[in-house]
Amino acid sequence: MIPEPAAPPAAALRSPYRPGELALSPEEMLHAGHRAVRLVVDRLRNLAQDRPHAVADPATLRALLDESLPEEPGDLTALLDHLAADVLPLGIRFDHPRCFAFVPTTGNYPAFLADLLASAFLSVPGAWLVGSGPTRIELTALSWLRRLLGLPDGWGGLFVSGGSVANLTALAAARDHHLAGDLTGARLYCSTQAHPSVARAAHLLGLTRDQLTALPPDDTQRLDPHALAARVDADRAAGLRPFAVVATVGTTGTGAVDPLGELARLCHRHGLWLHADGAHGAALALTDRGRPLREALGRADSLTVDPHKWLFQPYEAGCVLVRDPSLLRNSFRMARHHLDTGYLHPAEAHGDEINLDDYGPQQSRGLRALKLWLSLKTFGAAAFRRAVDHGLALCDHAAARITDHPELALVTAPSLGILTFRYRPPRGAPAPPAPEALDGLQHTVSRAVCADGRAMILTTRVRGRSVLRLCTINPATLPADIDTVLELVVRAGRAATAAGEGAARGNGRPGT
Ligand SMILES: Cc1ncc(COP(=O)(O)O)c(C=O)c1O
Repeated sequence: MIPEPAAPPAAALRSPYRPGELALSPEEMLHAGHRAVRLVVDRLRNLAQDRPHAVADPATLRALLDESLPEEPGDLTALLDHLAADVLPLGIRFDHPRCFAFVPTTGNYPAFLADLLASAFLSVPGAWLVGSGPTRIELTALSWLRRLLGLPDGWGGLFVSGGSVANLTALAAARDHHLAGDLTGARLYCSTQAHPSVARAAHLLGLTRDQLTALPPDDTQRLDPHALAARVDADRAAGLRPFAVVATVGTTGTGAVDPLGELARLCHRHGLWLHADGAHGAALALTDRGRPLREALGRADSLTVDPHKWLFQPYEAGCVLVRDPSLLRNSFRMARHHLDTGYLHPAEAHGDEINLDDYGPQQSRGLRALKLWLSLKTFGAAAFRRAVDHGLALCDHAAARITDHPELALVTAPSLGILTFRYRPPRGAPAPPAPEALDGLQHTVSRAVCADGRAMILTTRVRGRSVLRLCTINPATLPADIDTVLELVVRAGRAATAAGEGAARGNGRPGT
């Protein structure tokens, strides 16, 4: 017989943890909290005077931050100061009025506070039992988003980290709905201008590289429905199984919008799922100009929209919406898997309770919806519509200035607050004639403008040529800011041309 182990001495059971240790006094919390808010407000107040971009080299940051694990307590307020002064500003200040890079969100103050509250209340809109209040906030924010975008009743979904996970979630539902667990011969379609998260989603869903067909776009950078129809027919004839199309509503490079209406008809005819990736561009539907888009969006089966882009939310705020939310549930509900999860039974939904964790890949989920909820309640929807309109008007202003300037050439017209253009040397200047040299000149100009520190403008490629790109969606940007960045472009272009630098091909990396 194995002897019972002797009971440990009482001292061994004593925890080294002192109750209350992982906490602060109310006075300390208020002191640090005031400091945090002060740091945020100072940042916002001084933003326009700052540079839109700052970067440090890896060695400098290693020296600053690669510290040993802190065993001893530190001073919270001093740590907040350190982060705000030395660490967090190292990056792109997307909300800077002269930051035109990528898709620059601004965030907004109520949304910052929403993140604080959601975090501090440990809000989880997962199961109704776990977070009924947070769940109801998310459902309300989803219905407001549906209303803002003009989607028909019945659409639903959930907030996710961003467009990438929204695309993944929607395509998982499409896969399960159409392929019933068998990926053999399956085909998914998009244009080469689709966001890379579409390819990543395909990969995560188990599709091989040749099961994602990326078609070359037409002259306007849009998915060509005729080419797509021909390809779907050919694939069907070859015994393959087309199941879904991704239409991009606002390609990241040029803001091109794939022809949703035609694609919806095509998908309907062929029995394909149509996913609209409107991470950036769906917000156009808030405006009068976006009325045709309002009608078209509702013809898709699913939609990605990123409130952390053109709805002015801080990261992370993405959203996936589907025409038939029960299809999300079919893919993601916990009970689908035959595992021994008795501990989840108390959280099962009854009656009209909703467990949002049954609709997506996460169980514990943060209350991302609160940002949008609180900012819509604080500012009102009309302010959001005006702000989106403002971005469109700024882009028109930029296009007019570019068209008027003899040394600037518009390459792609404003679309969803994005345009592309080139600097070209004035006639008579020792201009580098080769297209490659002109490509190099755009990179040189971008680097010089970023190094100047008053504006941030990056490059992209359109039809194989390098171009400068502006995304003008910041509601705090004024026409004068557009004039400033174009003036800086011309000045940098002239200087580079005079120095014969046009031929030097840059790597497009901004200066600091
Ligand atoms: C069209 C489009 N789809 C998807 C994404 C990915 O979104 P996220 O970065 O929020 O994951 C982006 C990001 O720029 C985008 O522009």
